[in-house]
Amino acid sequence: MKTLLLLATLLLSSNTFANEPNLQSLMATMGQKAQIIMTGIAYDNFDMIEDAASWVNDHAEPTADLQIIKEELGYQGFAFKMMDKAAHNAANAIIKAAQAKDMPEVAKQYGKMVKSCVRCHNAFRERLRAVLHKTW
Ligand code: HEC
Repeated sequence: MKTLLLLATLLLSSNTFANEPNLQSLMATMGQKAQIIMTGIAYDNFDMIEDAASWVNDHAEPTADLQIIKEELGYQGFAFKMMDKAAHNAANAIIKAAQAKDMPEVAKQYGKMVKSCVRCHNAFRERLRAVLHKTW
């Protein structure tokens, strides 16, 4: 049993990025969280909104993919970063608005967040997909 545990530990630690999401799985969850925020808006559920927006704001970094993205985008990596920052800023503002129970502000910031999702997808998704994984 001990040997098995040791083996399992070794196998897990041999992959430095074992606990990190890749960008695609991170984004899939991002899509779900964006929907949950929308549902919270529809049902007047501020806790739901705050939880989902907090996930968007605090997500783990897809470190291995970020390295590939950096290499692919070069100086345009700056634009990628700015778009990521815009999404985080909006998610942060959604959290604050949810805490203040201010639904019109939640909705306004939600619009901003979705715009930032789309801006990045428009600019980079296809190009990055080609280097991150070969199949759609
Ligand atoms: C800074 C850039 C950037 C931002 C901001 C961004 N995305 Fe993405 N997103 C990507 C890239 C690049 C992909 C393609 C990833 C891949 O296929 O490996 C992607 C893919 C996706 C996918 C498809 C995942 C799949 O299973 O193929 C969803 C859903 C998604 N994003 C949702 C969102 C939502 C919702 C937001 C805003 C809250 C958002 N994204 C913000 C860059 C971004």
